[in-house]
Amino acid sequence: MDEALLLFSVVVVIVAVLASLSSPSEARAFFVFGDSLVDNGNNNFLATTARADSPPYGIDTPSQQPTGRFSNGLNIPDILSEHLGAEPTLPYLSPDLQGERLLVGANFASAGIGILNDTGIQFINIIRINRQLQHFEEYQERLRAMIGQSQAQKLVNQALFLITLGGNDFVNNYYLIPFSVRSRQFSLPDYVDYILFEYKKILTRLHEMGGRRALVTGTGPLGCVPAELALRSLDGECDPELQRAASLFNSQLFQVLQELNTQFGADVFISANAFRMHMNYVTNPEAFGFTTSRIACCGQGPYNGLGLCTVASNLCEDRSKYAFWDAFHPSEKACRIVVSHFMDGSSEYMNPMNLSTILAMDAMI
Ligand SMILES: *[C@@H]1O[C@H](CO)[C@@H](O)[C@H](O)[C@H]1NC(C)=O
Ligand SMILES: *[C@@H]1O[C@H](CO)[C@@H](O)[C@H](O)[C@H]1NC(C)=O
Repeated sequence: MDEALLLFSVVVVIVAVLASLSSPSEARAFFVFGDSLVDNGNNNFLATTARADSPPYGIDTPSQQPTGRFSNGLNIPDILSEHLGAEPTLPYLSPDLQGERLLVGANFASAGIGILNDTGIQFINIIRINRQLQHFEEYQERLRAMIGQSQAQKLVNQALFLITLGGNDFVNNYYLIPFSVRSRQFSLPDYVDYILFEYKKILTRLHEMGGRRALVTGTGPLGCVPAELALRSLDGECDPELQRAASLFNSQLFQVLQELNTQFGADVFISANAFRMHMNYVTNPEAFGFTTSRIACCGQGPYNGLGLCTVASNLCEDRSKYAFWDAFHPSEKACRIVVSHFMDGSSEYMNPMNLSTILAMDAMI
């Protein structure tokens, strides 16, 4: 081989190696914890009734196949990944989560779970939050084995985290049935204190495990979801009791996050006011191009709010006209509205700062 050609080949190989090293780490890693609002398929691998792996879930994905996301298409973590310039994170239980793909991050969320261990017991086999954190520990071991201790630490410290918890502690626990165990045990304000006491431990553990930037969403307007309209509303108005529960929880969560940030001396936890973000399109659906924010696209009964979304359900023609995909979960279009608030929202939505600011700030370090 002539020398110039040899040199050229060597350069090509070096460039290719450098490109392969730098491409996965260009975007920061992303880790997701929580419930069905952010689960992107872990429950497919479990024996549970809380699942979204059959049609018509996923009807608006390119393959029109269900993925395990509780959406007609993408969900909030997927859209956040788009903004990070990264591919969507894989569910932690996916066999495809190996090698280079570990560098993208992982999604540990599991539909049906809450802050408390007894939330979602009716779904049988789901990954409760403590177990999600154990999975994160296992993930970090795998990452260390692949890229070494210090690089793994760096990847985790520089990552973005999203944690969405709490809604199920109301709808699938305290308010699941009249005279539930928890509602006999606690008044609403005492219950909120109790679950936030537990949530604070979870968030502290996330920080101990290396989390340095975490978006924490409060609960959405629980009283306005089609499921609760069907069960509790006579006139189509949001249920005031569930709305009160969400407001109490959200305002105290905000304080907990501020306390933790003070304790850690840094803006580790970013409070995302999901209640307000969702409430905008719930109260004024037309302004966002929806024809309704009360009736779910997929379901049956009043507001399509009863039972599960299955092939036998009513299914709307045009998903972009519906704020709710099923009885509990926003459509992809509503998820996009929420994420746009994450990115650019004022301090009433994102506190102490929005994600555009975070990405710009962290890029300078
Ligand atoms: C939930 O279960 C885990 C593990 O079994 C335990 O460590 C944790 O303290 C429990 N949480 C509550 C609130 O009881
Ligand atoms: C949020 O993001 C936008 C940029 O997209 C910025 O102009 C705005 O000032 C930010 N708001 C706050 C309160 O940080």
